[in-house]
Amino acid sequence: MKLTTFILALAIYGLFIATATDAAKPKYKYKKPVPRNGTDVYQGSSFFDKFDFFTASDPTDGFVRYVNADTARSNNLTFVKNDTIYVYSDHTNIAPKGRMSVRLSSKSKYNSGLFIFDILHMPTGCGTWPAVWTFGDDWPNNGEIDIVEGVNNQAKNAMTLHTNAGCTMKMVELRESGTMVNANCDVGKSDQGCSVTDKRTSSYGTRFNENEGGVFAVRWSSSGIQVWFFPRNSIPQDIIDGTPKPTSWSLPSADFPFKSCTPSYFRGHRIVVDNTFCGDWAGDTFSEMCPGKGSCANYVKNNPHAFKEAYWAFRSFKVYKV
Ligand SMILES: *[C@@H]1O[C@H](CO)[C@@H](O)[C@H](O)[C@H]1NC(C)=O
Ligand SMILES: *[C@@H]1O[C@H](CO)[C@@H](O)[C@H](O)[C@H]1NC(C)=O
Ligand SMILES: *[C@@H]1O[C@H](CO)[C@@H](O)[C@H](O)[C@H]1NC(C)=O
Repeated sequence: MKLTTFILALAIYGLFIATATDAAKPKYKYKKPVPRNGTDVYQGSSFFDKFDFFTASDPTDGFVRYVNADTARSNNLTFVKNDTIYVYSDHTNIAPKGRMSVRLSSKSKYNSGLFIFDILHMPTGCGTWPAVWTFGDDWPNNGEIDIVEGVNNQAKNAMTLHTNAGCTMKMVELRESGTMVNANCDVGKSDQGCSVTDKRTSSYGTRFNENEGGVFAVRWSSSGIQVWFFPRNSIPQDIIDGTPKPTSWSLPSADFPFKSCTPSYFRGHRIVVDNTFCGDWAGDTFSEMCPGKGSCANYVKNNPHAFKEAYWAFRSFKVYKV
């Protein structure tokens, strides 16, 4: 074989190989928005099956009567409609013994995770104290993470950790867009916990609801806990696709690094959803935030129609591994 023929043969062979290899490759990969393996999904008609209904008296001294699953269903406080999950408080009856409401506690427990809470509507109004949060048994020994929380007509969301002694965010570099209001997480030092307030009014209350809510994301890993809030019109595509990538997101609203705190303060957390009335926070601030309405308990007892907006509506909760 002459050298030129040989080179030509090589070139044709190379072209053939390249073409064959290209032909074997699919043109694109179809990516289904299916959550990663190991993801816990709370959505649709099975949502309530994944929770226990707490029926004891409210540990935060609220003017509330938490009801069981059957009572909640028969009073139309819990239902699923068009794939949206609704959790109401009673808004039709005078309530001499405390307003009927629901406190859900997930059957699953977590020691870490990337939590995606897609929320369309939250309870609002004078006297309300709604929260989406997590905590471990034997409080405060296994910690508490408050993701969405506020009282009365509060305008911005509060994100807070509560722990036993020794966990603090003092003298620690925080990479967050929210405003730190208190740095010590120890419940023995203050009821406030280490707490950060979101700067945006879209993060809580009536403004949140007008905007069809949004997504709260919590990354809880061995290096710390961060909370993001994405208003409805700016939810990252990777969250919508079911492949959340926190490293691609903007600064979190709240950053709680494990530097002067350790992962051991947070163990075996259940997800909790509730709405209580008055009590240790909404009650103590009621006359200041809702002047001219008398006592919180009397207001909540006698004005059922004031609580039409006191409901949660969820698309889904998803818990990915970190
Ligand atoms: C999911 O993970 C488990 C172990 O963690 C494994 O047994 C199972 O095969 C995996 N399923 C898929 C679809 O990857
Ligand atoms: C339950 O409450 C919702 C919202 O108030 C309402 O749309 C629905 O019709 C009620 N269902 C029943 C069975 O009363
Ligand atoms: C049902 O939910 C979908 C998706 O969230 C929404 O686009 C649609 O308008 C809803 N339909 C009704 C009747 O509420």
